Amino acid sequence: MRRAFTLARRGEGRVEPNPMVGCVIVRGSRIVGEGYHRRFGSHHAEVYALRAAGRRAAAATAYVTLEPCGHTGKTPPCTDALIAAKVKYVVAAMSDPAPEVAGRGFRKLRAAGIEVRTGCLNDEARSLTRPYVTRLKLQRPYIILKWAQALDGWLSAPDGQRRQLTGQAAARIVHRLRARVDAIIVGASTAIVDNPLLTARDVPIKRIATRVILDSRLRIPPTLKLVRTAVQAPTIVFTQRSRDDHARAAQLLTQRGVEILPCKSRNQRIDLRDALHQLYQRGMSNVLVEAGPTLATAFLAADLADEVMCFVAPEALGREAKSVRFPARFAERFDISHHSADSDALFHAVRRSPVRT
Ligand SMILES: NC(=O)c1ccc[n+]([C@@H]2O[C@H](COP(=O)([O-])OP(=O)(O)OC[C@H]3O[C@@H](n4cnc5c(N)ncnc54)[C@H](OP(=O)(O)O)[C@@H]3O)[C@@H](O)[C@H]2O)c1
Ligand SMILES: [Zn+2]
Repeated sequence: MRRAFTLARRGEGRVEPNPMVGCVIVRGSRIVGEGYHRRFGSHHAEVYALRAAGRRAAAATAYVTLEPCGHTGKTPPCTDALIAAKVKYVVAAMSDPAPEVAGRGFRKLRAAGIEVRTGCLNDEARSLTRPYVTRLKLQRPYIILKWAQALDGWLSAPDGQRRQLTGQAAARIVHRLRARVDAIIVGASTAIVDNPLLTARDVPIKRIATRVILDSRLRIPPTLKLVRTAVQAPTIVFTQRSRDDHARAAQLLTQRGVEILPCKSRNQRIDLRDALHQLYQRGMSNVLVEAGPTLATAFLAADLADEVMCFVAPEALGREAKSVRFPARFAERFDISHHSADSDALFHAVRRSPVRT
């Protein structure tokens, strides 16, 4: 099963909004076939593994990280393929919570005389399927909230100007994330002050992330890099619903290829849940928020972070700048680990249960 998980992870960034799935077929003590879901629309893991195993799948055990599908989706049901190959046992790490699968896959296998076991490495399966389950249960994408701060807690110098705090190792981690998520969100202030591109550089690109700016009053100028490159990489601006007085600004941005989406407002600002729901409706599974202190605090206060990546650089920025405020009892709800990235530290917090039940 561990091998099946390693294989499944290879699909990360390519299979979404499907879940990552791996499959290993074992006969006696030998692996006779293995496979994983490679990209959205491609065959499922079981099909690749069965193909590789050929006739050796007969009487074998199939280890799958997720319940095999028993319905016809983009591809024919995997249960049928397992039954046709005369597999004897199926071991699945977890059942599929999608309503069209849930339990149906197992029932079909059992009805065909295949012995089914579930729950093996269940924690790992839950961790692997977090974005998939978050979409299903919460109708929003999985959110990774990231920022960098100095050792004294500040995110930017008092003058508010852009400042590269962290080193190359941290940058590489961020670029790898950018290269696999569906969207990268920034606040209007960061878009204006930092004038970032938000593209992934010097890493393998798994999907092109849509760049998303939360700009309640439509105040970003059309000269920003994000706007000027909107024809190369998709760019969305969420703004408050009523924007009649912004008609001119909106026109300048749309002419340059920016998509402006009206959004509900909350306390005079973008309603984060509404914006995220709209990204969900576009099929997005993973969203990276490259937050300044205001936006990071807002996401944390709204309980809208599934993971927090806080890079800490060993320097001091001095007083009178802004820092991120954590909500009460944050540590009770997250597992926090510490890693190093060259001379920077990375505090990584992962929500204990991706979905509150
Ligand atoms: N160290 C880091 O990792 C890092 C990362 C990013 C930025 N920065 C620095 O941080 C500074 C900017 O930070 P900031 O705190 O001023 O701004 P920010 O967090 O980047 O963005 C906040 C802005 O987003 C808009 N916004 C829209 N909806 C919102 C909502 N629901 N909640 C909160 N904000 C919402 C608001 O502007 P409107 O009301 O006009 O919509 C708000 O002022 C810059 O100096 C930048 O260099 C540092
Ligand atoms: Zn399938």
